[in-house]
Amino acid sequence: MTYLAILGFGTVGSGVAKVLTENAAEVAAGAGEEVRLKYIVDIRNIPDSPFAPLMVKDFAVVEQDPEVGVVVETIGGCGVALAFTRRALAAGKHVVTSNKQLVAEHGVELLALAKEHGVNYFFEASVGGGIPLLRPLFNDLSANRILSMKGILNGTTNYILTAMLQSGKELDEALKEAQSLGYAELNPDSDLDGTDAVRKTCILADLAWGRELKPELVPVEGIRGVALQDIRSAAASGGAIKLLCRLIRGEDGLTYAWVAPHYVPASSMLCHVDQAFNALIITGNAVGDTMFYGTGAGSVPTASAVAGDVVDAVRHKSSPRGIGWSDAPLPLGDPDTLPSRWYIRSEGKWHFTEPLTADRIPACEARYRVLD
Ligand code: HSE
Repeated sequence: MTYLAILGFGTVGSGVAKVLTENAAEVAAGAGEEVRLKYIVDIRNIPDSPFAPLMVKDFAVVEQDPEVGVVVETIGGCGVALAFTRRALAAGKHVVTSNKQLVAEHGVELLALAKEHGVNYFFEASVGGGIPLLRPLFNDLSANRILSMKGILNGTTNYILTAMLQSGKELDEALKEAQSLGYAELNPDSDLDGTDAVRKTCILADLAWGRELKPELVPVEGIRGVALQDIRSAAASGGAIKLLCRLIRGEDGLTYAWVAPHYVPASSMLCHVDQAFNALIITGNAVGDTMFYGTGAGSVPTASAVAGDVVDAVRHKSSPRGIGWSDAPLPLGDPDTLPSRWYIRSEGKWHFTEPLTADRIPACEARYRVLD
């Protein structure tokens, strides 16, 4: 029997409690033993929840309970989440998280701390929600040189862009819907401004190339500047405007990383990824293209990945997996120097340019890099 505590009973934390309880038999079969939820730590009172008897307010209760073997951190952010994660790892507890900000900004430190204390720090849910992405990248594709990764990794903005086209909604209205469905961050700025997608891009780069990519070094443009007329024009020409995460390993040995809205032609499968779905195409030198698709946000789908990590942590409780990357910086190139076709609006008319570097784009009212 392994006992578990959940830190933070929000969208993801409540989903984790539900999955672990409703799928207890599957979890036990996978882990090889029963996994029992013992505490939920949250500063709020949630008297109406069926989990109310497990609620505690003081993390020290979890930290000091030797029965607790696994801690699930679904608080989010880098405040108490960072402090509690450090303390849980230092107390010899495995930690599982969906917190992409924490992994992107403090992954090097926390993975080193996990190693020092002989425990696992897992974060499959931090990128692509319920889609298995990070284990395939780290395990199954580990014999490849990863050449590029491109994808839609923010469910909220993909939902908004889809809803704007399908029902002629303005951004604010579509955002409210995405929030009511539990996709958006508490502060939706990180979705709309692309920061959330940048964090996920960094985690992918860290794992793929074994060096640290810091979020503040990734050029980013969110979706606030995407107008309904841009989306409609792109659709009329057979494509779609999508917020893409891009990572390209250049022949110069540099990595080109950025997040921006792109024009995605119908010939790309990414054009057809709608609503809150996420998709990632990973290209390796041996495997070629692989595509991962599924539900990238939301309570229970994200909890599916967290619960899977819990199972794996229990399976590997005596022989932790050696996941990690160096704190040496990943050498970066400037994406603006990569030639590309552009979809631009000039004097009210849309057209595609020849391949151009960003500094050669003619004066225009709107421009999107074309995904080739
Ligand atoms: N706000 C995030 C998204 C949640 O919309 O993708 C999942 O990481």
